[in-house]
Amino acid sequence: MVAVAILAAGRGTRMKSNLPKVLHGLGGRSLVERVLNSLSDIEPSRRIIIVGYQGHLVQEALASFSDVEFVEQAEQKGTGHAIQQLLPHLAGFQDDLLVLNGDVPLLRPETLQQLLKTHQQHQNAATILTAQLPNPKGYGRVFCDSQNIVKQIVEDRDCSPAQKQNHRINAGVYCFRWPDLERILPQLKANNDQQEYYLTDTVSFLEPVMSVDVEDYQEILGINDRKQLAGAYEILQARVKDDWMAAGVTLVDPDSITIDETVQIEPDVVIEPQTHLRGKTTIRAGARIGPGSLIENSEIGENVTALYSVVTDSTVKSGARIGPYAHLRGHVEVGSGCRIGNFVEIKSSTVGDRTNVAHLSYIGNATLGERVNIGAGTITANYDGVNKHPTVIGDRTKTGSNSVLVAPVTLGADVTVAAGSVVTKDVSDDSLVIARARQVTRAGWRMKPQAESEE
Ligand code: UD1
Ligand code: CA
Repeated sequence: MVAVAILAAGRGTRMKSNLPKVLHGLGGRSLVERVLNSLSDIEPSRRIIIVGYQGHLVQEALASFSDVEFVEQAEQKGTGHAIQQLLPHLAGFQDDLLVLNGDVPLLRPETLQQLLKTHQQHQNAATILTAQLPNPKGYGRVFCDSQNIVKQIVEDRDCSPAQKQNHRINAGVYCFRWPDLERILPQLKANNDQQEYYLTDTVSFLEPVMSVDVEDYQEILGINDRKQLAGAYEILQARVKDDWMAAGVTLVDPDSITIDETVQIEPDVVIEPQTHLRGKTTIRAGARIGPGSLIENSEIGENVTALYSVVTDSTVKSGARIGPYAHLRGHVEVGSGCRIGNFVEIKSSTVGDRTNVAHLSYIGNATLGERVNIGAGTITANYDGVNKHPTVIGDRTKTGSNSVLVAPVTLGADVTVAAGSVVTKDVSDDSLVIARARQVTRAGWRMKPQAESEE
């Protein structure tokens, strides 16, 4: 069975970062995590990550991958030197070794499977993944005969002007028959522009080495700087959005929308411009999200609308209307048919079906019943400076404008709270509560004229 080695020891100087290159994030996952995920269609006997620069950070970041092994390359003297570190660890190993660059994150699992199949069918000493790039600058050039047998790989910086005309590039993905590679690894020399030991030099000593062109060259793009990282994100996003459009989702102005790969969307959803769907989010049929909304780790029910709003870690049930300018966060559950409107923040609360919180409110740590009407400017004062306290509001209760409900407090069902009240005590069902100073009006009263100040 095949073993896998991932090269992840380099600093990635061109990223200009303190973080090792392979830990830079791409659509919510690190580069190296994506490379690991591209192995999903093969079942490697071992997965070895070669770490060096800030290796402990790479190990920590991959702690959830339980059966991954780490081998240290203390000094980074090139990709060939990195693979030399495996010699003591793979002594006696008789099978194939798949080598992947840790900075090539867009590979499709099928592509790796195809590479392995070709390698095994032809019983090659090595098989390398190549691509014809419109702009091959920066990549190693692969020189083959007419039968796709590789003769030599020359790095861009070592190429003559004539060699640079070759657009067939090395993807940094290789399958080696390990016993053959093991034999020649110690012979590598660092006689090149960078004075490094190049893994690519091994192909000149192995026989036969075959090249396999990838169909979609975007898969093999390597990330060396921030611009390439941004380019890779665009490619990932294009894949995701194309898939959702094919599955029946309308994206209005796709370029202005971002969708994480972890998001699920049902058919007949409309995503309006400037909308971002992140994390473990599900959007059910008929919903219309945006323009201008951010939905993260949330479940949005059928026919919900969310206009210029932010919803995180929350559930919104069918037919609710969110926004414009609402913010739901920290485990909010909004019932069906609710209206959560202009400049309303709701935190850690449950809102019953058909309840409205339509204007300028803060609702925190509260449980609202069904068909409640929260008047404009109502605030739950849930925090005493030390602890958070709950507010409970029964079915059909109405709060007047600008009322403050000082928690902990419970209002029963069918309660009416007068505008401007500061409610500090529990109120039972079917009550009117007025908790404010009575209005005093003095008829015929006028302010005394002020004495003119003298200069
Ligand atoms: C490499 C290939 C080049 C290929 C390109 C594809 C070599 C010599 N060149 O070039 O032919 O077209 O990838 O993307 O292999 N690394 C280590 N230890 C080291 C040096 C590098 O682990 O001592 C790791 C890096 O962390 C990185 C990977 O190897 O993940 C590739 O290194 P990088 O320096 O980016 O190689 P390229 O110049 O891109
Ligand atoms: Ca690279």
